[in-house]
Amino acid sequence: MELHLNSRTDFTRNKGCRVCKNRTLYKFLKLGPTPPANSILKQEQLLLKETFYPLDIYLCPECSLVQLKDVVSPKTLFTDYVYLTGMAMTMKQHFHLLAVEVVNDFNLSKDDLVIDIGSNDGTLLKGFRHLGIKTLGIEPSTNIALIAKREGIETINDFFSVGVAKKIVQSKGHAQVITGTNVFAHINDLDGTLQAVDNLLTSDGIFIIEVPYLVDLLSKTEFDTMYHEHLSYFSLRSLVTLFKRFNLELFDVKRIPVHGGSIRCYVRRVPSEIKSSVHQLLSLEKDLKLGIVDTYLEFATKVKNTRIQLTSFLKRLKEEGNGIIGYGATAKGNTLLNYCKIGTEILDYIIDNTPFKQGLYTPGMHIPIMHPNRLVKDMPDYVLLLAWNYLDEILEKEQKYRELGGKFIVPLPEPKIV
Ligand code: TMP
Ligand code: ZN
Repeated sequence: MELHLNSRTDFTRNKGCRVCKNRTLYKFLKLGPTPPANSILKQEQLLLKETFYPLDIYLCPECSLVQLKDVVSPKTLFTDYVYLTGMAMTMKQHFHLLAVEVVNDFNLSKDDLVIDIGSNDGTLLKGFRHLGIKTLGIEPSTNIALIAKREGIETINDFFSVGVAKKIVQSKGHAQVITGTNVFAHINDLDGTLQAVDNLLTSDGIFIIEVPYLVDLLSKTEFDTMYHEHLSYFSLRSLVTLFKRFNLELFDVKRIPVHGGSIRCYVRRVPSEIKSSVHQLLSLEKDLKLGIVDTYLEFATKVKNTRIQLTSFLKRLKEEGNGIIGYGATAKGNTLLNYCKIGTEILDYIIDNTPFKQGLYTPGMHIPIMHPNRLVKDMPDYVLLLAWNYLDEILEKEQKYRELGGKFIVPLPEPKIV
């Protein structure tokens, strides 16, 4: 295991909170050392040393941001990427509805420009384009940006920054709407990002982000969503604090069901009228004691219990002679597998519909990834659902397997057969 990180150039450690700059953070959970959750391996790499990084989770009691201090370089994590938004119907439908809602709510017209940060394969922008709105994507992963471009979605292959924002303003003007879905948690330099947003947004423009919500993470023990790409686990309060520093106001919020429970936040320049939804969630967070370390020590105990329950449950099934495979070679699956030390003695292989992942091996635990057509061919007794955020979609898709007697196991918050 490679852990001489001080000399590494692809790794840094923050000195304080990335939102409010407070220097006193409390570490409440250690999930690592772990390899980056999406660095899946070719067969010939299995014998080489993998790089493991700390996966320690901290609370900032000042602004209630839960976060990693240890930051793996974004170039290492994102230049060549494996996650495609369009692989899940749930997300395609979700983003289609988001585009329709935004166009209606903010009366967008053909002259307006919508810019998506971390636009991935262009799934969200396709929805806007379909409605006749001008779009532009910004996506740092070269291979993924190429997929979007091939589908006709204009995409800048770069990390979003003030420099990129200024260039866009020169060539295309300001954006009426900027979106960032499941990207805000990936960004270490939030200040730089908001400066870039400030440069790019029209004076009455709207910035919309979707992030997994800390309240859902805690209440459903979704510790597997913690990995190096996810640097921040946002409370609403931490976001309000952040935007205030840039003269921006979070004026509306909606809880949405994607990725285990997320929030969609609407932001614009001050002064704006703040909707009651914001006050309600802030008061819920106060009731739930999100700024107090005891809340997180309790969570850490639940995480440890989950590991014991899940591993003994799977071992028992295996001892009884059952065949088990995994479903979804997900990033969160890799946190779960590495933290619980679940390897090929439990899971024969994992199926995944992403072409990039098939034929490769999961980081750390080295479980082979196969095409989903193996499921009905092999008929394993159980399938561990690592992509639990798509439970409904996958149960529907795999009806045949279930009719033939196959069973799914949802791993969290405690193992359950469905
Ligand atoms: P995510 O949980 O990070 O969104 O990743 C989902 C992974 O699960 C991605 O690799 C695609 C895979 N997947 C399948 O293999 N089959 C499916 O039906 C769905 C919805 C996802
Ligand atoms: Zn803070």
